[in-house]
Amino acid sequence: MSVPPIMSSPIGNFTTPLLILTSAVIAIVTYLIARNMFGNNLQEPPPAPSSIPLIGHAVGLSRSSFNYYTELSKQVDAPIFTVSLPGQKMYIVTKPELIQQAQKQHRTLAFPPIAAKFATTVVGLSKEGQAVLARNVNGDHGDHGLSMETYAAMRAALQPGPALDNMNRAMLAEINKSLNELAPVDNKQQFSMFAWLRDSLTLATTRAIYGPQNPFDDREIRDAFWEFEAGLMQIIVGFLPSITARKPVAARAKVVRAFEEYYNAGGIDEASAYARNRHEVEVNNKFPAEDMARSSVGGTIALLVNTVPAVFWVLLHLHAYPGLLEQIRDEVDACTHTDGMTKTIDMASLKEQCPLLLSAYQEVLRYRAMGASVREVMEDTQLGGFLLKKGAMLQMPSRVIHTDESLWGSTEYNPRRFLESEKKKGRPRDVCFRAFGGGKTLCPGRHFATNEILAVVALWIARFDTRPVSGEWTMPTTAKTNVAAAVMGPDEDVQVEIATRKGMDGVQWAVKLEASDKTFAIVTEDVVGEQE
Ligand code: HEM
Ligand SMILES: *[C@@H]1O[C@H](CO)[C@@H](O)[C@H](O)[C@H]1NC(C)=O
Repeated sequence: MSVPPIMSSPIGNFTTPLLILTSAVIAIVTYLIARNMFGNNLQEPPPAPSSIPLIGHAVGLSRSSFNYYTELSKQVDAPIFTVSLPGQKMYIVTKPELIQQAQKQHRTLAFPPIAAKFATTVVGLSKEGQAVLARNVNGDHGDHGLSMETYAAMRAALQPGPALDNMNRAMLAEINKSLNELAPVDNKQQFSMFAWLRDSLTLATTRAIYGPQNPFDDREIRDAFWEFEAGLMQIIVGFLPSITARKPVAARAKVVRAFEEYYNAGGIDEASAYARNRHEVEVNNKFPAEDMARSSVGGTIALLVNTVPAVFWVLLHLHAYPGLLEQIRDEVDACTHTDGMTKTIDMASLKEQCPLLLSAYQEVLRYRAMGASVREVMEDTQLGGFLLKKGAMLQMPSRVIHTDESLWGSTEYNPRRFLESEKKKGRPRDVCFRAFGGGKTLCPGRHFATNEILAVVALWIARFDTRPVSGEWTMPTTAKTNVAAAVMGPDEDVQVEIATRKGMDGVQWAVKLEASDKTFAIVTEDVVGEQE
């Protein structure tokens, strides 16, 4: 007796429908399993292509660093896409319209919780300090608490007005002094440009912020701070930190101690309104003393990490771009006041009468910005018709927008791009300029930074003839840029030689700032007002 083959059995008639049913069930089950595994809902933003399943994006990120999301954005034709990393889902926004919408939903797409986690890891807050910071961190229960009050205090002190003017004047006096010391007397002088700028700007900025007892007046502390900054990635990754992050953690401890001494000695009483306001909020919220010192080290990162490379790149681009230096010198010379052997550069005139300088500077930020505005998805949220899942991160990388040719045309460095006259030639709306972020977390330090950058650049080109020691201006690569920065950093320094500019022998230079009510409206919020 033989078992009849299925085809000839009585149920043979049903074989075809059964097969279809079975495949359908298998397909649904597979889909459900896959959905569970990759956690991707149908309404979520489309996934980005990945060469290797599961770990492809992690590999891509470690290989291409800040360029990775930009590379992906050129392959995905969607205003937002999903990148699933092991343990963390990311949504990457590629269109300015969607960024505008995300910025408006700042309670559900929130920044402060991320900033708090970042601060905790980066500066190593105590448990007690973390608890203080966690209270109403996102402002859901009003404007009180360390997190909300600190933002408000920083913003108030950095907006155009007398407090900012005082800080700017202190900063300019230091810049003036550093450039006086740099000035070659008889001979030419050779040095590493980035290293010089970094040290001088660290000194000028921190003196302006922390006052005459500034902990960074000590070169050892300046160097320790940058050693800490160079090891941020090791500290953040936190893999065997006692081995991999030993040096940056030790360097950090040194700066923390310097701040503790500073606070104990009452240095804060002579500091800028910015530092005093922050400190007062910390005292009022009973933030532990050691955490105050720690958070000061963290706060110093924002003051320095972007301004330093910005000045570096502006100087490089000005010298490397054919004919540009001469034109911008003409602008600066025309607004320099000469009185006998003293020449004075007035900050207000720089902002009113040097349109090409301003445009070339803003274009450097467009071209060199690499930061991303990051938000945590606090609850399932709709954005532009997509579903964002609670716990995921939203990233809005400036470079994705800044390198989009459908917005900008050619994205090569073009110093004239931000001139008023270029607006009519199809330059995209101001919201497409993302170097300072935007919305609620828009960089409050942009006016201070702009003053500092313009002052250094204007004084430098007015006073010195600069030439690259290698004989040719070349742009360093930027692969090693720090993850916490918003502006690319150079992988190598550039050796330069300066000489007193022809015809300027014996000139005394000064720089003047009356009131900073004349600001350079660099982001859309400067024109239409900041968002509430
Ligand atoms: C060229 C120089 C600078 C650039 C490109 C820059 C860029 C940025 C960016 C992209 C953000 C985050 C915005 C977002 O997430 O949407 C930010 C935040 C911030 N920046 Fe700047 N920044 C610069 C200089 C400064 C300076 C000099 C200061 C202080 C005097 C400063 C203080 C801050 C502070 C306090 C925040 C945090 C704001 C918040 O969390 O609400 N920045 N900056
Ligand atoms: C800058 O340095 C010059 C000396 O070259 C000095 O006359 C001037 O007062 C200094 N200060 C400022 C803020 O310009």
